[in-house]
Amino acid sequence: MLEQYGMVYVKPISGTHGKGVIRVEYLPEKSSCRYQINNTIKSCSTFNDLHQALLAYTHKKKYIVQKGIYLLKHHKRRFDIRVMVQKNLRNKWETTGIIGRLSHPERIVTNYHNGGTMISFEKLLSEHLSPATIAGYKSDLRRLGAEIGRQLSTAYPRLKELGIDVAIDKKLHPWVLEVNTKPHPYVFRMLKDKSVYQKIRRYSLAYGGMKGKSK
Ligand SMILES: Nc1ncnc2c1ncn2[C@@H]1O[C@H](COP(=O)(O)OP(=O)(O)O)[C@@H](O)[C@H]1O
Ligand SMILES: [Mg+2]
Repeated sequence: MLEQYGMVYVKPISGTHGKGVIRVEYLPEKSSCRYQINNTIKSCSTFNDLHQALLAYTHKKKYIVQKGIYLLKHHKRRFDIRVMVQKNLRNKWETTGIIGRLSHPERIVTNYHNGGTMISFEKLLSEHLSPATIAGYKSDLRRLGAEIGRQLSTAYPRLKELGIDVAIDKKLHPWVLEVNTKPHPYVFRMLKDKSVYQKIRRYSLAYGGMKGKSK
């Protein structure tokens, strides 16, 4: 995959908060590679070296390797998008919140618990798209969210809410990185538009989703 994509993410199967996530890059001009865990970057001269180093780190836990996406940046910091999707009061999947997450400058993940900052989608995209295009892009993401909800429901009919992590690459193509089944609604309180969180809360209370969720 490294040869094929140039960069991959290696992630624990049951991870949260960006913990244990590794970014690996292949450097063809030097025929070597480098990998980053937290804010430490190390280099490796052969795939075998890399494999040994990763095995020592991942131990016996299960990991996946995923094609790496070169995320768009805002003031030199990477960002991705969290899309909140819920069953609404008519029991239909509806995207209720979209928010951007800006990584800490030295981190490879955007998670809030890993130094990330929540920031409005419009602000992040304003460097890359015109205001009219931003609105259209946002409704495409809304449709994508609802579609993922409908699709996953066919296998997991009891699902009520999803938090989808979406990467946007340099060509503005969206990629689904991860779908969380227990998303935190509280991140949406940070938006100026208070109606977003109010709706998330209203839907969540209707299906009992706020129970047991701490800030
Ligand atoms: N394939 C990828 N390409 C680029 N960045 C990624 C990729 N996978 C994960 N990331 C970054 O790492 C973060 C955490 O990964 P994620 O799969 O969401 O795991 P977690 O369950 O720990 O949140 C993502 O929000 C994103 O910023
Ligand atoms: Mg995530």
